[in-house]
Amino acid sequence: MVGYAFMGAAHSQAWRTVNRVFDLPARASMVAVCGRDAASVAEAAQRLGWAEAVTDWRELIARDDIDVIDVCTPGDSHAEIAIAALEAGKHVLCEKPLANTVEEARAMVAAAAKARAVGVRSACGFNYRRVPAVSLMRNLIAAGRLGAIRHVRAAYLQDWIVDPNFPLVWRLQREKAGSGALGDIGAHIIDLTQFVTGQRITGVSGLTETFIKERPLPEAASGLSASAGTATGEVTVDDAALFIARLDGGAVATYEASRFATGRKNALRVEVNGEHGSLAFDLERLNELEFFDATRPAAEQGWSRILVTEGEHPYLGAWWPPGHILGYEHSFTHEMRDFIEAIATGADPTPSFEDALQVQLVLDAVARSDSSWVSVAS
Ligand SMILES: NC(=O)c1ccc[n+]([C@@H]2O[C@H](COP(=O)([O-])OP(=O)(O)OC[C@H]3O[C@@H](n4cnc5c(N)ncnc54)[C@H](O)[C@@H]3O)[C@@H](O)[C@H]2O)c1
Repeated sequence: MVGYAFMGAAHSQAWRTVNRVFDLPARASMVAVCGRDAASVAEAAQRLGWAEAVTDWRELIARDDIDVIDVCTPGDSHAEIAIAALEAGKHVLCEKPLANTVEEARAMVAAAAKARAVGVRSACGFNYRRVPAVSLMRNLIAAGRLGAIRHVRAAYLQDWIVDPNFPLVWRLQREKAGSGALGDIGAHIIDLTQFVTGQRITGVSGLTETFIKERPLPEAASGLSASAGTATGEVTVDDAALFIARLDGGAVATYEASRFATGRKNALRVEVNGEHGSLAFDLERLNELEFFDATRPAAEQGWSRILVTEGEHPYLGAWWPPGHILGYEHSFTHEMRDFIEAIATGADPTPSFEDALQVQLVLDAVARSDSSWVSVAS
């Protein structure tokens, strides 16, 4: 694994847990973790459960006893690490968004296609697909329970940079992150809505805004927390992104991604309205799925709350008895479960780099839109 902070910790927990919960045809062995500071990465290896620590990811790629490279670094290094790993015959799991630009994402897709031809697999870490209630939402839509989809309504809202003195961490720098709220959290709702509906975005019209244009430079930073220094620098990404979209199955959609939604910490909500009913998911209640079944007699219709903890529900058979709820981190355990199973059975894990490139094309279209309509290449 490369990178050991926020996602590094989440992925480590999943790698540690996955084979203890799921009966899989292969076992994950946590061989080595890479960071840039020797003392910090050694401490992280110990804490997170990795046997060894190294300071150059190229060392991982050169080793014969490593089969999988898990990329948990900021977007500016995804393409370089993932392409080198695939060329060296390593399976790659890469965090989202796949890259910082469409050009990089295309190069990653080309490397993935070449690698796939010799049985080397790759996937992008859109973990929210693996929340059981989200998987159930997809299954119900795929089974036709909503009929034709008319509306998709998605929002991913945070507030961790509302304070103008919050420092200029890597997520606020274009050369490190590619974009701001758009690529960081907007990418999740683009992937999630395309996943649950089975439809792809064909065109968008959007706007982005940067409310605070200059911030103190950070003295120390990790994940979403940091302390401010005295010098300042320019914010080069969006603070918020809003767009409307058309999907290839005829649905219309609205998307909102913001880091300025005061009071909203990590509020991801998606609602889908169809001719026979509606479904809604809210991450703050991730064990639940709301369902309005318009095929029931009028006197019995109403929103129902499905508690998604039954053994029949996606992923739940391996966990606890019904009613014993799961949390955020389990989505990563499920990601590793699906990734290991695909590799062990010679299948392609999802979402593929091609799927993630399509998300990148949507991000790019929104960034260029400036309120005009932009078609998304298929
Ligand atoms: N799936 C999700 O829900 C989710 C959530 C948060 C972040 N992410 C994604 O995960 C990735 C990492 O984000 P994060 O929040 O973990 O960031 P972070 O700042 O918490 O951690 C980044 C890590 O990468 C390391 N790093 C940076 N450049 C490196 C290099 N060249 N070589 C070795 N290590 C390097 C840093 O030292 C640090 O350990 C990003 O692509 C981000 O978009 C995904």
